[in-house]
Amino acid sequence: MSGTDTLLAESIQAISAAEDERVLDYLRVQYLGKKGSFTELLKSLGNLPAAERPAAGQSINRAKKTLQNAIDKRRSELVIAALDDRLASEVLDVTLPGRRQGKGGLHPITITIERIKKIFASSGYVVAEGPEIEDEYHNFEALNIPAHHPARAMHDTFYVSPGTVLRTHTSPVQIHVMEKGEAPFRMICPGRVYRCDSDLTHSPMFHQVEGLLVDENVSMADLKGTVEEFLRAYFEAEMPIRFRPSYFPFTEPSAEVDMGCVHCGGKGCRICGYTGWLEVMGCGMVHPQVLTMAGVDNEVYCGFAFGMGVERLAMLRYGVSDLRLYFDNDLRFLRQFN
Ligand code: FA5
Ligand code: MG
Repeated sequence: MSGTDTLLAESIQAISAAEDERVLDYLRVQYLGKKGSFTELLKSLGNLPAAERPAAGQSINRAKKTLQNAIDKRRSELVIAALDDRLASEVLDVTLPGRRQGKGGLHPITITIERIKKIFASSGYVVAEGPEIEDEYHNFEALNIPAHHPARAMHDTFYVSPGTVLRTHTSPVQIHVMEKGEAPFRMICPGRVYRCDSDLTHSPMFHQVEGLLVDENVSMADLKGTVEEFLRAYFEAEMPIRFRPSYFPFTEPSAEVDMGCVHCGGKGCRICGYTGWLEVMGCGMVHPQVLTMAGVDNEVYCGFAFGMGVERLAMLRYGVSDLRLYFDNDLRFLRQFN
């Protein structure tokens, strides 16, 4: 066997034993590279007698070609084997159960507001909105609460700048609605309100739903019936309710509405301040002076208004013992409402 044949046999064997592409490359350089064995063999042609050189040269070139083919074949075998390995190790079990997508839900306060809106919409009340940053005129003066009136002290007001406040109640929306529109009116306004206040039943930001009905011949009995009917629809149950005479500068007469505390069943506990009752809203007959200031003829029209605490209603319906839980964003709490 010639030197070429020996080298070819040896190199083919080495190539077919190469276990990965890196080794294969290494062998290629060893045999076919600039300093490789076959190159050396070509260089040594000069040592042969001139007559033998062409045949020997051809034989070396054929061997090189054969080797190159062997390398290419081995390389594609290795590529396929590597791919097979990956496919085997990265199997995808399509029968496994899928990952569950976390499902969001509405906040209990949003759910409560939606329920309230739905109940009043069924009696023809439209939904109005007003600004949360309010001027003192609409938050106070137009509601018959002049500067230095003691009632201003009942609202622990956040001032944004002199003359501008974070609204302390939704009642200023009554004024906006009456200023812009023409009587009769029948509207509710849900929204955020702000007071410097915090304990089990008070939070610095909370929600009220204001209600205003202005028409001819409206009486306190209409107010009482409306409130009672609403509470019945909202709680889907007969709950202990009481109207307690109260005072608001913008209504006369005025009342506050209390509901039996669901936590102690009326016996008295921390949540109801040991009274057995929880206040849920203020209400009354719109003061004639307020109608006049908002441009409504109080000789023809009269009306009632109410402002209810949404968190309080939600507390009673869901049996929540601390109103501030609604604003802690604790998912363990919030998930219970979905
Ligand atoms: C008012 O805000 C009046 N504007 C209500 C009103 C409207 C009276 C129309 C007459 C005519 P009051 O301050 O009582 O009233 O608040 C109304 C309700 O909001 C309360 O009954 C209570 O349920 C709720 N509330 C009051 N303060 C807080 C607070 N800090 N956190 C949570 N709820 C509160
Ligand atoms: Mg009150």
